[in-house]
Amino acid sequence: MQQLLSTRQLLFNAQKRKYAVPAFNIHNMETLQVVTETAAELHSPLILAATPSTVAYAGADYLVAMAAVAAARTDIPIALHLDHHERFSDIQQAIDAGFSSCMIDASRAPFSVNVERTNEVLAYAHRYDVTVEAELGRLVGIEDDLVVNEKVSMYTNPQDAVRFIEETGIDSLAVAIGTAHGLYKGTPELDFDRLEAIHRVVDTPLVLHGASDVPDELVQRAISLGICKVNIATDLKIPFSAAIQSYFQQHPEATDPRKYLNPAKEAMRVVVRHKIAVCGSAGKY
Ligand code: CO
Ligand code: CO
Repeated sequence: MQQLLSTRQLLFNAQKRKYAVPAFNIHNMETLQVVTETAAELHSPLILAATPSTVAYAGADYLVAMAAVAAARTDIPIALHLDHHERFSDIQQAIDAGFSSCMIDASRAPFSVNVERTNEVLAYAHRYDVTVEAELGRLVGIEDDLVVNEKVSMYTNPQDAVRFIEETGIDSLAVAIGTAHGLYKGTPELDFDRLEAIHRVVDTPLVLHGASDVPDELVQRAISLGICKVNIATDLKIPFSAAIQSYFQQHPEATDPRKYLNPAKEAMRVVVRHKIAVCGSAGKY
């Protein structure tokens, strides 16, 4: 019987062999089944990610139980990861429930407070061999009406990254290099020089958030420059929801969730397969 793993070994292996582990945001049993089955079929390592709103929606205990079943059914390594958590008490509760990895996102706080809050989580998480991701710099939101210089001032500074890692000892670092959460208005511009500069001075595995709606070539270039974990959320929600909408257009009388959720799962599966190909993680286990 396979257990839920931390992301430590997964990310080190990815770093060594220059691919990225996909972190798929899941919301319920159906989405968890799709990403697990597809990753297993393609022999890809897998990170199941849950935001605070997903934990509130499904319950940490349900998520842990479902992820444990997924891990027991497959041979691929699976981590259950808390995405973008800000409160220590929430992280503590989820670790107690069985989450194997977490992100403390204190990136909005000043550097020293970010260090402090990250260290508080690290002290607890590492006691249970739970890995910790932190974020330095801030991702721009899609509605942000900022001029370029203001945006760049929120990007991760390489020297700050070195200091942050020295002062914390985190397991992975989310960097801000121009991606945003959600959909983009135009083609996103990623600061690859900055990513390269960070990668040159930092050994810790690097994480790319906001990778939905970013052209595949750009994601792959980021992976070649040291990104070991790619987060995918919006790109899965859209086909899942669109398939349900079109099912109801064709069957307005439908009442059976098993009928209208199946096409949603199949639509999502296609995207998951594609994302695994982009990450280069297929066939690694
Ligand atoms: Co994110
Ligand atoms: Co593509």
